[in-house]
Amino acid sequence: MNDKQLVALQAAKYVKNGMLVGLGTGSTANYFIEELARRQRDEGLKITTVASSTISANMAQSLLLPIVALEHISYIDLYVDGADEITPEMTLLKGRGSDLVKEKLLAKAATQFIAVADESKLVSTIGQNFVIPIEVIPFAWQLTKKNLQDAGGQGDLRPNAAKDGFWVTSHGSYVLDMNFDKSLDAKTLNALISDTPGVVEHGIFYGLTDAVFVAANGVITERWA
Ligand code: 5RP
Repeated sequence: MNDKQLVALQAAKYVKNGMLVGLGTGSTANYFIEELARRQRDEGLKITTVASSTISANMAQSLLLPIVALEHISYIDLYVDGADEITPEMTLLKGRGSDLVKEKLLAKAATQFIAVADESKLVSTIGQNFVIPIEVIPFAWQLTKKNLQDAGGQGDLRPNAAKDGFWVTSHGSYVLDMNFDKSLDAKTLNALISDTPGVVEHGIFYGLTDAVFVAANGVITERWA
């Protein structure tokens, strides 16, 4: 069993009968979804799920997990998702893909949000290994980019896969992939980007994580806020 699978299975132990469970997106979250389906089949676990992306929704459906649409929920019991970066203060960088709006809504709606990762995701500061994805309203992208540049950001619109247009998220936003001064702390950066007009959502998950489960060479560490 690899480290991503180990932490996903550990997080699945926190799922109890009757819960409404948020499904993250990515390879680590996929292991969690598979384990929920196994527990439903082998142990008779009774849960309802809500997905953070079409791909997770499709996976849950194909594994016969009961699923409700995001627009029909106002809370969830537990959300489990991976991350691209995790700081010692448990701030996350997420949203390498196209679904960070739904991911952040679920993280905020959850009574408990557990982030799961292997140790490659541990960083000392947000933005250490990845650019910060910032979803912007398409018609506002130039004004938003200018404001973020004036605040010290550097970067540009993410191209689409064919490199003949711009990437469009599941929410219909463009994505500015930006770097900022590494000395800015996560709280300041979070507020700076959130307060910029035209920004729909961004990949810094500040103050949302209840626990981080990290596995390194087969050993799981649970950290609770
Ligand atoms: C997608 C995410 C993923 O959770 C993150 O990229 C981690 O992916 P993986 O588990 O495949 O390493 O934030 O928006």
